[in-house]
Amino acid sequence: MGYMNVLSLFFIQTVLLVVLVAETKAKVPAIIVFGDSSVDTGNNNVISTLLKSNFKPYGRDFEGGLPTGRFCNGRVPPDFISEAFGLKPTIPAYLDPQYSISDFATGVCFASAGTGYDNATSDVLNVIPLWKELENYKDYQNKLRAYVGHRKAREIIRESLYVMSLGTNDFLENYYSFQSTRRSQFTVRQYQDFLVGLARDFITELYRLGARKLSLNGVPPMGCLPLERATNIMGQYECLQEYNDVSMEFNGKLEGMASQLKRELPGFKMVFTSTTYDAFSQIIRNPAEY
Ligand SMILES: *[C@@H]1O[C@H](CO)[C@@H](O)[C@H](O)[C@H]1NC(C)=O
Repeated sequence: MGYMNVLSLFFIQTVLLVVLVAETKAKVPAIIVFGDSSVDTGNNNVISTLLKSNFKPYGRDFEGGLPTGRFCNGRVPPDFISEAFGLKPTIPAYLDPQYSISDFATGVCFASAGTGYDNATSDVLNVIPLWKELENYKDYQNKLRAYVGHRKAREIIRESLYVMSLGTNDFLENYYSFQSTRRSQFTVRQYQDFLVGLARDFITELYRLGARKLSLNGVPPMGCLPLERATNIMGQYECLQEYNDVSMEFNGKLEGMASQLKRELPGFKMVFTSTTYDAFSQIIRNPAEY
């Protein structure tokens, strides 16, 4: 399944979710987003990277046909999730100077296209590393406390839904690229374990900072992304099975780590989804949790 198909599937499922969530009294004050191009809503516009999407045809289906820095025709999944929870229809990028803490209080995106769990991945295209996304989040917390007060800020931080979506670039931009040094340091299985360790540390830190509800997204079938198929000349442009196997194995390890963390961290609610479909069926089956 192509990546854009995943997004349209996501859209259909979101429509379903809007209806279902509207019927519950879900209490989610904000959606807070970390990750890569699958969820970036414009942070890369304001950093010095070549990896930007603030030009046409990006944004073709966005309100006013505006290229916002989202890597797709219209809105990205977190925008739909936000709307589904009765919040605003688009989530502002934290680095976008058009917005301020009054906007970010009900949803904010720290994601940066091209980034990964591994510091070496964000270096490839000079984008925002994950540790820096977390630094920006800490900065956000300070601003939030100044804006709504400590008590209310603590509540927003605790009740918000955190969304994480990244990992693809660690393999495709970094591990499997020609100039990668990671391949001489790790077998692909060891590299998966290394990334899962980084994901675990990141989530534990988010928890320590007050987060309690998290949706962790795995990677799509990486062998079926358009670029991978286009370069699979020997395989007649079919999906690359090897990369799809790596995706599945990595998702399995992320999922194992997620269920372990759920047991270890008191009061922590976490959904792991390797397909968008899973995300919705989980939320739909258990709406009271959100
Ligand atoms: C990534 O870089 C940050 C900032 O230099 C550093 O604090 C962190 O330890 C690095 N992570 C790893 C796994 O090397």
